[in-house]
Amino acid sequence: MKKKLTIAISAITLTLIVTSFTQEFDLQKSIERGKSVYTSNCVDCHKADGTADSQYPPLAKSDYLNHSADTLINVLLLGQTGQVTVNGVSYNDDMQPVDYLSDTEISDVLNYIRNSWGNKMNAITPAQVKALRQ
Ligand code: HEC
Repeated sequence: MKKKLTIAISAITLTLIVTSFTQEFDLQKSIERGKSVYTSNCVDCHKADGTADSQYPPLAKSDYLNHSADTLINVLLLGQTGQVTVNGVSYNDDMQPVDYLSDTEISDVLNYIRNSWGNKMNAITPAQVKALRQ
């Protein structure tokens, strides 16, 4: 009898641990929140539709977005300066860091740009941002 109870308790505990680790990150919600972060912080340069001009590189169908999550998080935390090539076009301007945004805002805005204007990519989580923030 006691053994059965121990087994039952262990099974419940294990289930709780497993579900807490595998809790799905809600990408759709993150993308929705990211749109307002984008409108407040990025739209002046990268435009509402993410297209390029001679000064600012595109985000819509940008091949640069295929870089690792860490590289993209660092564009936002550290800024991007010097020569950069996006879709075969060379840009050389400065983007200031937007490290005043929270971990969640940074993950949300990256999920928004990586899943708008025809882009479709996997989620970047606040924990990944937190791990890189110095
Ligand atoms: C003041 C203008 C400005 C603002 C505001 C700005 N950026 Fe940028 N961004 C740039 C410039 C300029 C570059 C290219 C820098 C270079 O030439 O090295 C760039 C590069 C990038 C890149 C890498 C290249 C690419 O096109 O994929 C990403 C990603 C990016 N920005 C995302 C964002 C996001 C997200 C925001 C808002 C949180 C933002 N930027 C706000 C000007 C800006």
